[in-house]
Amino acid sequence: MPEPTTVAFPPGFLFGAATSAYQIEGAVREDGRTPSIWDTFSHTPDRTAGGETGDIAVDHYHRYRDDVALMAELGLNAYRFSVSWPRVQPTGRGPAVQRGLDFYRRLVDELLARGIAPALTLYHWDLPQELEDAGGWPERDTAFRFAEYAQLVGEALGDRVEQWITVNEPWCSAFLGYASGVHAPGRTDPAASLRAAHHLNLGHGLAVSALRAAMPARNRIAISLNSSVVRPLSQDPADLAAARRIDDLANGVFHGPLLHGEYPSSLLEATRSLTDWSYVLDGDLRTINAPLDALGLNYYTPALVSAASDGVAGPRADGHGSSDHSPWPGADDVVFHQTPGDRTEMGWTIDPTGLYDLLMRYTREAPGLPLHITENGAAYDDKPDPDGRVHDPERIAYLHAHLSEVRHAIADGAEVRGYYLWSLMDNFEWAYGYGKRFGAVYVDYATLERTPKSSARWYGEVARTGALPPVDARV
Ligand code: FCB
Repeated sequence: MPEPTTVAFPPGFLFGAATSAYQIEGAVREDGRTPSIWDTFSHTPDRTAGGETGDIAVDHYHRYRDDVALMAELGLNAYRFSVSWPRVQPTGRGPAVQRGLDFYRRLVDELLARGIAPALTLYHWDLPQELEDAGGWPERDTAFRFAEYAQLVGEALGDRVEQWITVNEPWCSAFLGYASGVHAPGRTDPAASLRAAHHLNLGHGLAVSALRAAMPARNRIAISLNSSVVRPLSQDPADLAAARRIDDLANGVFHGPLLHGEYPSSLLEATRSLTDWSYVLDGDLRTINAPLDALGLNYYTPALVSAASDGVAGPRADGHGSSDHSPWPGADDVVFHQTPGDRTEMGWTIDPTGLYDLLMRYTREAPGLPLHITENGAAYDDKPDPDGRVHDPERIAYLHAHLSEVRHAIADGAEVRGYYLWSLMDNFEWAYGYGKRFGAVYVDYATLERTPKSSARWYGEVARTGALPPVDARV
């Protein structure tokens, strides 16, 4: 029987998978690469689960050909990866290291030869340690260093990569890196985290113009935001105000300047006791507001918040680890609640309607701007059967439900052009080390052998046909 038309995607829709450099590459001391903040952080006691590091990760640096072959065999037509800044420009300054660039050239050529469209992210959190030693993202100069690095990569790969993403999830870099400290560089300074947010925005804007100057005009430039879907616990005005404050800190601080050329006045007001925002210089907002060709959205789970009736803050909802320090500067009195429903291995509630709401919000915020889901996926405690196969029906159900909401949003007018499953294969999940498996492909960490899970086959079928098979389809 033909599939119902409601689950068929528009022709040309990209079905890909996503990864990032530090989470998969390994080879941290090869070909001139120097430490990033994640090397330093993961080698610092008690920062990651079990002291795990990305030193070897899943050895993608040496196995990239096999990994691309696997994607082709599954039927994926797009792949989102990130370039390691300290591999290409080791100290964050000066000329590019050709051996570093050559790795990405080989990877891209391999993808193109197999008909897989590359989507290149310039910054997925691996700042060269030397730039952190000079002050990191709270310092304005880091934004200029980033634009210079963007230019080097644009000049080298702009002839063969059409889809570019400047920064991945600046919220995590700014607020997990500099406020709650659960991510590298592990600082806990709320004022510095707001400066970091501005300089990540500025770095993006400067990189956009550097890339436009360095690359053919056909290339498309985006940024990937982990825009939260923030829901109030009730319609009580105090809860609505709490949701508004978290929305400003999760979303407005980025999409305000990116899409509208200004920071929300409510954000400036609510953070006034921490910072006077005097580091936002004349012209910065115009730079950040440079036109985009697409917007990347990463979605996992919504947030549910209320005002503290008893004045006591709830658990810190950052999703990526726990800390005594809040990742929400100036919002210590907002309470985060567990959203009802089933949860993944990360403890993240499964709520596909959040993805629909997010897509419709950006359809309103930025009419006509093409949207890409640059990450969506789930961690489960996958284990091989005695016969060596890995069955993950929960992940298939998760993907089916979320892809259905993407289709629903398209039907309601959202210009969604692509979807990238997080992640191609199990990998180093930041502060959680190797304990959380997000992959469609299972990795045996003792042998580094890759085994596609049943979800990889199911998703490959989606990519090949452009339609959703039932969750129990035999593929
Ligand atoms: C996102 C990150 C990605 C991965 C997923 C689970 O926030 O961009 O690297 O950690 O979460």
